[in-house]
Amino acid sequence: MSQAVYQPKVIVEPDACAAGQTVAEICQTEVLKQPGITLGLATGSTPIPVYQKLIDQYKKGEVDFSQINTFNLDEYVGLSGDHRQSFRFFMRDQLFRHINIDQTRVHIPDGLADDPDQHAAQYDALINQLGGIDWQLLGIGSNGHIAFNEPASAIDSRTRVVELTEETIAANARFFDSPVQVPRRAISMGIGTICEAKRIVLLATGSAKSDAIAAAIQRPPTEDCPASLLQYHRDVTYVLDAQASAKLR
Ligand code: GLP
Repeated sequence: MSQAVYQPKVIVEPDACAAGQTVAEICQTEVLKQPGITLGLATGSTPIPVYQKLIDQYKKGEVDFSQINTFNLDEYVGLSGDHRQSFRFFMRDQLFRHINIDQTRVHIPDGLADDPDQHAAQYDALINQLGGIDWQLLGIGSNGHIAFNEPASAIDSRTRVVELTEETIAANARFFDSPVQVPRRAISMGIGTICEAKRIVLLATGSAKSDAIAAAIQRPPTEDCPASLLQYHRDVTYVLDAQASAKLR
């Protein structure tokens, strides 16, 4: 990664459904070009429309996922893959069980690893061993976090155990019965790991993301807004709905 700053491509769609469709079409094009592609995948509510469109494409016979490899960005420490709020459960439920993916090519950090620090380092190494991530899908937190890289995460951070901020715990509490059930730690790909992906697409929808999007794209890169560090990557596309783009000048 060079320290030059690049302008990302920005695509604005009228609503979240159209934005999801656009990202799914970009992803489909990538898989058709490179059937054995390695995709980096994200969780959260934002990518759900993308996964629904990918399922539609598969059901219509427009794309074959049997050769793809996937690496997910993150997982909560302390949750098993069978826990309904784990990211492994989410991925199975929202995408993998509906398409012809080879489960042996699916990679998600293990929230129950005996030694989470060592597991995180091994996960990072495995990405490299398999040739790196070709196409990375990202969401964004309202504080500008990507994956679980909270503000002040280092630009060269690798996959590691991270502490979640109160803001992120509060935002993710909607998926749990109560805020105290939200894990306080996660294993997350680092900013450095993410920026090694060849191509990155960040999808953001809704007005709650508009400040983070303006900071990420229009302010100088700073570790205070992790997504702004993507300005150092030469191939980033933001796909936004009108609400998320509202504070761009
Ligand atoms: C979590 C995930 C991020 C995601 C963010 C936003 O913190 N670790 O990868 O981008 O939530 O989630 P949502 O799309 O639900 O707003």
